[in-house]
Amino acid sequence: MTNEELKRTLAESSRVFVLTDANVAALWLPELKHWLSCEDASEIIIKPGEENKTLHTAQQIWTKLLRKGADRHSILVNLGGGTVTDMGGFVASCYQRGIRFVNVPTTLLAMVDASIGGKNGIDFGGFKNQIGTFAEPLETLVMPVFLSTLPDRELLSGLAEMIKYGYIADPSMLKIDQNNYEQYLLRAGRIKREIVEQDFTEQGSRKLLNFGHTLGHAFESHSFTKGNPLTHGEAVAIGMWCALWLSVKQCGLPETVLVEYLPKLRMLLSLASPIFDDEDVQNLMSYLVHDKKSRAGEMRWVLLPAVGKPIYDCTVPSDLVQQCVVECIAQMREIVRR
Ligand SMILES: NC(=O)c1ccc[n+]([C@@H]2O[C@H](COP(=O)([O-])OP(=O)(O)OC[C@H]3O[C@@H](n4cnc5c(N)ncnc54)[C@H](O)[C@@H]3O)[C@@H](O)[C@H]2O)c1
Repeated sequence: MTNEELKRTLAESSRVFVLTDANVAALWLPELKHWLSCEDASEIIIKPGEENKTLHTAQQIWTKLLRKGADRHSILVNLGGGTVTDMGGFVASCYQRGIRFVNVPTTLLAMVDASIGGKNGIDFGGFKNQIGTFAEPLETLVMPVFLSTLPDRELLSGLAEMIKYGYIADPSMLKIDQNNYEQYLLRAGRIKREIVEQDFTEQGSRKLLNFGHTLGHAFESHSFTKGNPLTHGEAVAIGMWCALWLSVKQCGLPETVLVEYLPKLRMLLSLASPIFDDEDVQNLMSYLVHDKKSRAGEMRWVLLPAVGKPIYDCTVPSDLVQQCVVECIAQMREIVRR
């Protein structure tokens, strides 16, 4: 859909709503409405951050949609990072059994990953993305201009997901850093789309996108309970170290790949202070039980016998996973100390 077609679609809808968070609203909301010629759109502004990706926030948005007369011909424009696009897609796909929505990602992570592929959801009961839907946006509008206001730590978070594509699909993306990422933006989005097109509802090969996310989600959720939240990308960066470590032990990945990942991990964590200790090991392990990637209580992993050649649905003995978590915590201690 061209921008002109999108503007026409918005103009022809019964009402347009723009969902965004307070940070993005202050920076970009008037511009976005101007660019999309939808100055009359109703604004729904939520609190920023993963901690607000909750049923409570979803309920507040549904209430506003209802009060402001949203009907099945309305469109919700989700302007923000992955928290807003995950939440907005979920809310839109449930409201009156589904209204159309458009994603306008404003973080690097959302541009290359979260806003693409139709997975929407909220966190629930202390676990990530436990409630959600598969529903595609009408359009995803990627405008790199938003990155001009993005804090460096959020930029690094997006780089982590881009480096993930290097391991699972295109090894040339392992060269990505803060200075050259823009030239890989389109390629990253295309990789995600290609994988999603093969398997929209994640029955098989889409699981490859979960590389680094199994323990990543555990570290992310646990960091919130410790009052020292990691960004999603930082948690994935740590999770990828674990996935590489397990791949070395379980399926013959050369150890040099893990060693070569260390400078990348240091870069990705350079603005974080991930402090976990040995008392956290059991807590981190307990998150795996509720992971959506488990089947009948047994965890399924994405591992990497060789760079660019991932495999999914791998099982790993839980004592090896536990050893991996212990080693990972020691590795992070080392990184934080430097
Ligand atoms: N659905 C999927 O396929 C998928 C994939 C990956 C990640 N995710 C989800 O995405 C979420 C993380 O998304 P995120 O990293 O974009 O975080 P986020 O949406 O929480 O944004 C991070 C911070 O940056 C601020 N921000 C956003 N855009 C800005 C801009 N242009 N300038 C200044 N500040 C800006 C936000 O207000 C927020 O404070 C997680 O909940 C994760 O689970 C979903």
